[in-house]
Amino acid sequence: MTGPLLRIEGLTKRFHSGGGLFSRERAMIAVRDVSLEIARGEVLGVVGESGCGKSTLARLILRLIEATNGRIVFDGTELTALPASALRAMRKRMAMVFQDPYSSLDPRFTLARVLAEPFRVQSRAMPPDAVAAMLAAVGLPETLATSYPHQLSGGQRQRVGIARALALRPDFVVLDEPTASLDVSIQAQIIALLADLRDKMGLTYLFISHDLGLVRYFCDRIVVMYLGSVVEVLPDTKAAPRHPYTDALMRSGFAPDPARRREIAPLGGEIPSPFALPAGCAFTTRCAFASDRCRSERPVLSQDPAHPVACFHPL
Ligand SMILES: Nc1ncnc2c1ncn2[C@@H]1O[C@H](COP(=O)(O)OP(=O)(O)O)[C@@H](O)[C@H]1O
Ligand code: SF4
Ligand SMILES: [Mg+2]
Repeated sequence: MTGPLLRIEGLTKRFHSGGGLFSRERAMIAVRDVSLEIARGEVLGVVGESGCGKSTLARLILRLIEATNGRIVFDGTELTALPASALRAMRKRMAMVFQDPYSSLDPRFTLARVLAEPFRVQSRAMPPDAVAAMLAAVGLPETLATSYPHQLSGGQRQRVGIARALALRPDFVVLDEPTASLDVSIQAQIIALLADLRDKMGLTYLFISHDLGLVRYFCDRIVVMYLGSVVEVLPDTKAAPRHPYTDALMRSGFAPDPARRREIAPLGGEIPSPFALPAGCAFTTRCAFASDRCRSERPVLSQDPAHPVACFHPL
């Protein structure tokens, strides 16, 4: 089949909080009108500071939570319209690797049981040598099959998380900050493993990170999010940023070389509350280029398909 593997149109998620006896109900938009496409075999990066909506976007795409608005089309099929049974069948083609491999692995289960779980959930027979093959694919010895998650190192646990995600041989994998809780040296090994598995298994990745340096190293294109909205799509890893936020991320503590991060000032200015965003551009409170127009009008993503940016005064 031709066309993108995944297409998202106008995806929006609104959360409500409070509303109890002592608090007023408040609404915030965690993901606002996000549209994007991922080509087969592509690694699409999603980058932004903590709380900008990356994990919510990931959960929406896999329909782990329901969208307030918008459409998700996977390999030509609209997921948002699928009944539960058809969605379950489609789900085995999509998988997710979580940030914290410790809390995402059941501590009561041996690795053999952890890796058998995806087959059980899908009511599928597991080939007899599947556990050994899955462990080998992520560089772990077969002898670990009888171990429990707490007996492994952080890097080994994330390898198990990756093996579990790939158990049913998906086409598409969401990697939600898969190395954020690991040491830098282990992080590099996990990234190398993910690159190797992508080549061998023909995978397509959505790679989420708060680390622009890492995303520029690993991804083909990069979506930059700020407070729920896409503010820029970098068409390749060498592209110069056009949005002041992306530019600030690149100059700030998000430098690719971890040793330099301490020398560079973190991105300054005050982040507005997601419950009370400014009327105009959400970045006005931190932007050196903010004009009156920026404070009163919300910029939308430009229709320049070569390099979309949501800014009235792009660099
Ligand atoms: N279940 C939820 N209920 C209410 N607010 C939520 C929920 N999940 C996430 N949020 C809020 O949505 C925003 C985006 O969160 P998240 O997607 O986890 O960001 P990120 O992964 O980029 O750190 C945050 O302000 C967060 O507090
Ligand atoms: S629209 Fe204005 S405030 Fe927003 S990023 Fe662009 S220049 Fe800065
Ligand atoms: Mg997150």
